[in-house]
Amino acid sequence: MKRNQFIKLSAAGAAYTLIGGYSGLLSSCSKDENITSAGDYIPVTEGSFNTPLAFPKVMQSNFALTPQLTAGGNFKNNSLSVYGYEAGSILGPTFQFTKGQPVSINVQNQLSDVSNVHWHGLSVPSMMDGQPHQLIQSGSFFLYSYTVNERATLCWYHPHPHGDTARQVMKGLAGLIVVTDDEENALNLPGGDREIFLVIQDKRISGNEISYSPTMNDVMTGFMGESVFVNGIYAPYHEVSTVQYRIRVLNGSNARIYHLALSNGKSFAVIGSDGGLLSTPQTVNSILLGPGERLDLIVDFSGQNLNDEIFLLSKTFDAGTAQGLQEFRIMKFVVNKIESDSFQLPSALSLITLLPESQSVASRNFDISNQGMNMSGGHMHGSHTINDLSYDESRIDETVAKNTIEVWTFDNGQGTEPHPMHLHGVQFQVLDRTGGRNAVQPHETGWKDTVLVMPYEKVRVIIPFGANTGSFVFHCHNLEHEDDGMMLQYEIT
Ligand code: C2O
Ligand code: CU
Ligand code: CU
Repeated sequence: MKRNQFIKLSAAGAAYTLIGGYSGLLSSCSKDENITSAGDYIPVTEGSFNTPLAFPKVMQSNFALTPQLTAGGNFKNNSLSVYGYEAGSILGPTFQFTKGQPVSINVQNQLSDVSNVHWHGLSVPSMMDGQPHQLIQSGSFFLYSYTVNERATLCWYHPHPHGDTARQVMKGLAGLIVVTDDEENALNLPGGDREIFLVIQDKRISGNEISYSPTMNDVMTGFMGESVFVNGIYAPYHEVSTVQYRIRVLNGSNARIYHLALSNGKSFAVIGSDGGLLSTPQTVNSILLGPGERLDLIVDFSGQNLNDEIFLLSKTFDAGTAQGLQEFRIMKFVVNKIESDSFQLPSALSLITLLPESQSVASRNFDISNQGMNMSGGHMHGSHTINDLSYDESRIDETVAKNTIEVWTFDNGQGTEPHPMHLHGVQFQVLDRTGGRNAVQPHETGWKDTVLVMPYEKVRVIIPFGANTGSFVFHCHNLEHEDDGMMLQYEIT
């Protein structure tokens, strides 16, 4: 199942042996001074920001997906050979669900590979969750059906076949899920063309192909690309007027972390994250967003002049890793209209009841520091683990009682790579972070399903497990790490 990956890895392994052998490798593979040796930090190449941004079509009924090889996206005004969820487009349609709605989604796999669909952020029955071993064969279909129980939020869907998730997502398979509810509707947040959805993804482009053939170093750092796309469009621009916009962002990249900020230096408000609205808006100048995480932002363009250009940036950040060394521009906003704005951001958004630690019936510790490479089958390959275990579909690693609350710790205290840790089946709250950034971040004050654990950090989350019994996975959402085994299973009984 790892296909290309294995071939490349063994080739890279041979090169490494010449450099200094296995023990040198373990220490070298995650330190930045060595990253230039092979897989490399891939610097971003900025485009000219002259292609208009577009948005996937929105579907409110008759949900269906047909993963297939097609042409789509926009790279310097040419389309690419991609995997799409329908003919002629990269990224699938945006599904709009309402809280409480029963949905059925027929997925007809027209790829020549096994695939499936996972509903990232939704709590659905184990059987419907699109887990790594629940596969749809090439040429077959599966009817996913479940009830949408979540409060208003931005979630997403993507394939999850073990060992091939990273490649399929990189080739274009992903889509947004917008859940609405009465509580959010009552806030009258900016909507229509003042609500913008941005899927940020980096890709390596060669010719009209999205190339994906990770080297061993790519597996260690995660696979990064030189070209940053928004909604499948390389270096786009979008016209705005001088009002407040609700900008909803998914970091749909395999491994790249973005340190989002605006080029006009203005602050913006974070009003929500993975699991919906926060209790109060959090004003920030910049925010670090890991793969799989979402943000709900209010960005105010008032006071700008006609034709002003404001860029969404990724600023540098210090993680002691391959990432964060470069500031780059992601997309451009162009002011094309002066308008006045009556929207007032409410100071209270939602009621988030913080779960007290005293309600927790168990705590579990997961060591995610220890990542390396090893030799097996005659090949050097990465070995990404949680508690020194790598994913085994036939093994249940943790058993949890339904309708109970637990505290889980992701301990990257000795680690030198960032790991965005994600749990299926639940939304959780972040209790605390020690080491590294040493604080719960502004967008972590509500409900989350993915939490970025940077090097030297230990993050504790409190999780209310629901009534859906069965097994679910939890894993690093750096998709190379995940495919490499950094994923375990828990069972709700
Ligand atoms: Cu988006 Cu198992 O994850
Ligand atoms: Cu998920
Ligand atoms: Cu990881």
